Amino acid sequence: MAEKISITLNINARDYAISVEPRRTLADAVRDDCGLTGTHLGCEHGVCGACTVIVDGKPVRSCLMFAVQADGRPIRTVEGLARGDVLHPLQKVFWENHGLQCGFCTPGFLMLAAGALEAKPDMTEAEIRDVLSSNLCRCTGYQNIIKAVSAAAVEMRTCQPSENC
Ligand code: FES
Ligand code: FES
Repeated sequence: MAEKISITLNINARDYAISVEPRRTLADAVRDDCGLTGTHLGCEHGVCGACTVIVDGKPVRSCLMFAVQADGRPIRTVEGLARGDVLHPLQKVFWENHGLQCGFCTPGFLMLAAGALEAKPDMTEAEIRDVLSSNLCRCTGYQNIIKAVSAAAVEMRTCQPSENC
């Protein structure tokens, strides 16, 4: 067994001091060592996007990153989107637009869209489609996800800080 390395994952502004083998993926560390199981694992080889989290402000596939690479860097997961009982605008519009069915892919889509909209709040629908094409959903047919993210783009451009955006 490889020697374990002590690292600190800063997830949703909270530090998790853990020991991991160098080959442990960020996805496994987030889920199994930090107990944040909102990040899902589908393919485990970079195809489906279910494991998407935000590292240093950018969406990444956490099954393709080693936990040691994320040591000390700010990480955001789906658990960090809502503020208490106040849903993030993306969560609200997914709900309102039926952007999910079984919900397995949803954390990945939410974090992908959050990172993309924060980087470019005025994305066109074509750009939104392009961004979302990197993640897979087995249920929705994608139209409602596109509708939801387009609605979130409008909300996030206009909402006040008190509205969790
Ligand atoms: S589980 Fe990471 S891309 Fe599918
Ligand atoms: S809602 Fe079921 S996989 Fe996307």
